[in-house]
Amino acid sequence: MAKDVIIALDFPTREETLAFLDRFPDGEKPFVKIGMELYYAEGPSIVREIKGRGHRIFLDLKLHDIPNTVKRAMSVLRDLDVDMTNLHAAGGSAMMRAALEGLTRPDGTRPLLIAVTQLTSTGAETLKNELLIETPMAETVLSYAKNAAASGLDGVVCSPLEAALVKERCGEGFCTVTPGVRFAGGDVGDQKRVMTPEAAGKSGCDYIVMGRPITQAEDPVGAYRRAVNEFLG
Ligand code: C5P
Repeated sequence: MAKDVIIALDFPTREETLAFLDRFPDGEKPFVKIGMELYYAEGPSIVREIKGRGHRIFLDLKLHDIPNTVKRAMSVLRDLDVDMTNLHAAGGSAMMRAALEGLTRPDGTRPLLIAVTQLTSTGAETLKNELLIETPMAETVLSYAKNAAASGLDGVVCSPLEAALVKERCGEGFCTVTPGVRFAGGDVGDQKRVMTPEAAGKSGCDYIVMGRPITQAEDPVGAYRRAVNEFLG
C-alpha cells in the first residue's frame, strides 16, 4: 500500500489555504486533507480548485446519517473526484455499504472510503456514561474497524498507537490513517497520545495526517519534507 504524509489544511479561508499551498515549488504537490472548516466556509469549489492544482485530496467530512441519505451525499462527493473520504462507523454496516455504492463511479472506480471508529476526543467516561457502551475503548475501536472491513471499506482513521493492532485484526491491506503525529521535541498542542513520523512509519500507519507541525512551522515546506523523510525512512 502507498504510504504518504497528508497535510491537514485547517485554514478558515480560500486565501489562506492557497497562500500556504503557494509556498511549495511547482511540481511538489502534497496529499492534503480538507476538513469541515474549510469545506463549509468555501464549499465544493475549493475542492475543485485544489484538485485542479494537482493535489490528491482526503475530504474529511465524517458522514453519519440514514443509509439512503449517505448514499446520495456520497454520489455528490464522488463527482468532486477526491482520492479519499470518510464516514462514522457508528452509522452501521448498512450505511457503510450504501456509502460505497454511492461513491462508486460508473466505470467502477471510487475514492478510498475510510471509517472513523470512536473519536479520539471521546474518553472512557463518555463511552460508558453517555454512550452507554460498557466494552472498553480499545475493543470498541477494533470491533468498529472489523465492521468497516466486513462492509468493504478500505480502512480506518485511528491513533498511530492502534495501527498495528488494526492491521493484525483486519488484515495488512486494511488501510490506517493516523492523526496525532508530532516531531520529536515538538509542541504536542491538544493531541494527547502522539507518535513521531518515524515511529508511525514503523508501526503500520499507511498515511499520517499532520496539521499544525507543518502549517504553523516557520518553514512549512521544510517541515513537510522532514515528515516525509522520517515517515518513509
Ligand atoms: O494539527 P494537527 O496535526 O493536530 O491536525 C490533525 C488533524 O487530524 C486535524 O485536522 C484534526 O481534526 C484531525 N483529526 C484528529 N484526530 C482524530 C480525527 C481527526 O486530530 N481522531
